[in-house]
Amino acid sequence: MKPNKIKQENWTTQFGVIMAVAGSAIGLGNFLRFPGLAAMYGGGAFMIPYLVAFFLLGLPAVWAEWVLGRYSGVRGHHSVPGMFICMTGKRNMAYFGSLCVTLPTIIVSYYTFIEGWCLAYSLRYLFGWIGKGSGDEYFQKLFAETTGLAGNGALFQHGFLNFNVFCIALCLLFNYFLIYRGIAKGIEWFCSWALPALLVCSLIIMVRVLTLGNPTGIEGQSVTDGLGYVWNPSQPNKTFWESLANPETWLASAGHVFFSLSLGFGAICTYASYTRRNDDIVLSSTTAAAANGFCEAVVAAMLIVPAAYIFLGPAFLTPENLNSSFTIGFLALPEVFCKMPLGQIFGFLFFFLLFLAAVTSSISLLQPQVTLLEEGLNIGRKSSLAITALITAFGTFFTAYFTKQLTALDTMDFWTANVFVFIISEVQIVLVYWFFNINTSLAELQRGSQIRLPYFFRFILKYVSPFYLLVVFVSWLYLKFPEQIEKISHNTAAQLTFAFLIFVTIFNLFITSRALARWKKLEILDSKKE
Ligand code: ALA
Repeated sequence: MKPNKIKQENWTTQFGVIMAVAGSAIGLGNFLRFPGLAAMYGGGAFMIPYLVAFFLLGLPAVWAEWVLGRYSGVRGHHSVPGMFICMTGKRNMAYFGSLCVTLPTIIVSYYTFIEGWCLAYSLRYLFGWIGKGSGDEYFQKLFAETTGLAGNGALFQHGFLNFNVFCIALCLLFNYFLIYRGIAKGIEWFCSWALPALLVCSLIIMVRVLTLGNPTGIEGQSVTDGLGYVWNPSQPNKTFWESLANPETWLASAGHVFFSLSLGFGAICTYASYTRRNDDIVLSSTTAAAANGFCEAVVAAMLIVPAAYIFLGPAFLTPENLNSSFTIGFLALPEVFCKMPLGQIFGFLFFFLLFLAAVTSSISLLQPQVTLLEEGLNIGRKSSLAITALITAFGTFFTAYFTKQLTALDTMDFWTANVFVFIISEVQIVLVYWFFNINTSLAELQRGSQIRLPYFFRFILKYVSPFYLLVVFVSWLYLKFPEQIEKISHNTAAQLTFAFLIFVTIFNLFITSRALARWKKLEILDSKKE
């Protein structure tokens, strides 16, 4: 028996599902975070730990989510708590699954805030509100105005009458609208045109950057020098081996692969649960992961840092600037567009592409919460969406209010995208490749697929991935945790953010307990034995 009376939804085409999953993965992480990390951790040398993490952690975790999602989806479970029961036959695992719903709900709260900045910048370019020839100070001011960096409540000095707040609200409404339209008519429809549009925008800007030559005439600042800065395995201040010997390079690449592929967010398994019994999910999952890699390692890396290098010079690319995803994207690139012929058009295209990338990701982060409410309480999409909207809109405006040093955003990001993502992924990998049994998992993954995974992958999936992930997580905790705890313990905004996190966690635990009671009544908790 299925967990609800709601009509079963499915993706309509394989192209649609690939676009939706790739859309979830391709986001701000690809265009804002990856290029800075690559340049900071040794350029070409960074690509080695990145590729190792992609093959040994990323792909195994992606496939684990697809197995979890499809196996449960064809048995009528689309909510992550339901999936965990479906796979293990253990009711208590549903409570762990509720964490995978809390996580995307928190992430989407701050993610939509940044999405609002992208929309605000793209509209400013479109309407010509960004002055040509404006300097560094102008852009610092614009960024502070857009993000409310001046202090807590800076964006709300005139209540909600603020262009930036308006953009944030517009993003929220647009996301809710797409979710309201459903899997096929909302998410699949939007991603099927937004993702190709995003690729076209990024390729246009990339071609423009690559054909700039040496616009400033300064020696050592040509486009090839910029590309060398991103791609050379040996950097002026670091050799190839020094970059590889730095443990932070390995941690940064592994962390990024998880964020970038939307792993542990509950999003991919939820999307996978809407595939059909015999769909080729090896092809869909691997293509979407490859598209994500292409967008960051090829397109974004050849566009963003080289552009900043050409116009602002190597002196601008300090570790501090590279480490902050926002500095390059929101401060350096607008300056670059000012100095570029037809900069207004390229500025619009760049921020519009960021906006599209952010929306295709944020809708995937909303879906797990909506699905849990819909399926757990059987209350229909409208009511589920209304409750989800209430929580996430509160979270977004909360983030937009506590903007001094972007504390709320940083705190949410730290606990979700840096701590819980690893724990959830580790459990998912162990569950799928150990508990569920590697043979059953691979049979589920490969059903309907023409692609057969090479035999040696079994060893990677079962032993290498969980062990590698554990090592990364423990090393990361050792290096970063004390410093973050220290930061949080002295800051009221951080503590309030933490309280919001706890609230969402308790809320989802409660919904899960209601869902369990309902499913028990419907006698659907023994689906593993079906
Ligand atoms: N995977 C999404 C991104 O890279 C969340 O932004």
